[in-house]
Amino acid sequence: MKITVVGAGAVGATVADNIARKELCHELVLLDIKEGVAEGKAMDMNQTAALLGFDTRVVGSTNDYSKTAGSDVAVITSGIPRKPGMTREELIGTNASIVKGVAENLLKHSPNIIIVVISNPMDTMTYLALKSIGIPKNRIIGMGGILDSSRFKYYLTQALGCSPADLHAVVVGGHGDTTMIPLTRLATLNGTPVSNLLDAETLKKVAADTMVGGATLTKLLGTSAWYAPGAAGCALVESIVRDEKKVFACCVSLDGEYGQKDICLGVPVVIGKTGWEKIIDYKLNAEEQEAFNKSADAVRSMNSVLSTLTL
Ligand code: 2OP
Repeated sequence: MKITVVGAGAVGATVADNIARKELCHELVLLDIKEGVAEGKAMDMNQTAALLGFDTRVVGSTNDYSKTAGSDVAVITSGIPRKPGMTREELIGTNASIVKGVAENLLKHSPNIIIVVISNPMDTMTYLALKSIGIPKNRIIGMGGILDSSRFKYYLTQALGCSPADLHAVVVGGHGDTTMIPLTRLATLNGTPVSNLLDAETLKKVAADTMVGGATLTKLLGTSAWYAPGAAGCALVESIVRDEKKVFACCVSLDGEYGQKDICLGVPVVIGKTGWEKIIDYKLNAEEQEAFNKSADAVRSMNSVLSTLTL
């Protein structure tokens, strides 16, 4: 098993660090365009191996894609993160050509690769990667819903005073402050609907806080988050390389499922060794489906910006 992480910024380095600690592969390649950054961070991670007791070898490289040859899975984190006050959507002009180039280079050296996209605006970057390299749709997975679901669980633990491990809670739709849909109706604490335990107003606040979870952090930090995105990216990779068949909300290409087509959007999928293997139908009610359709409209209009860019 060989894994590549492209982009050695805060998110990319955290994904790589999590992957190494979990020994998800023997060789982990970390790439960045900034001279020396990936090499330096790789060396730093390798120097934790004796302390943490892992065998994964991290190879850093300044943009040499030949080092990625034969990768089974790659995670794209390249591009700029958002600053306070920015939406993820505002990054499209800078990140689209970067992500397209990265996806093409990865495929050149690893024809059977499964690609996880984290770069923002993630739904549109996933769609772009799929359209530009044309590999089977199951091998392109956008990482957003899994992170947003973890943030949803965080806010639920605050409201319920419970352990996050006892919660099942999913966020579908786009990975944007106004496009994500925390499915409060389906959230449970050990099988009990959280709506039996929290009043409607509290649940509404939990959902609202979840939707701006990333923005709240960005305001505090001055840049976008990395611990939760890094852990979420790694969880996704782990389910692929260990063929765990976990169900995560991920951004995948829809062909009529959830009433949408020609779009990549967040829905619950089974993640295993061939990528996303199956979409699970959560049978949204009318209100949830309407929110999903609105989310799709917003993402589709973002996707249409791609045709105005020189890529
Ligand atoms: C976030 O929500 C990285 O988009 C990512 O923090």
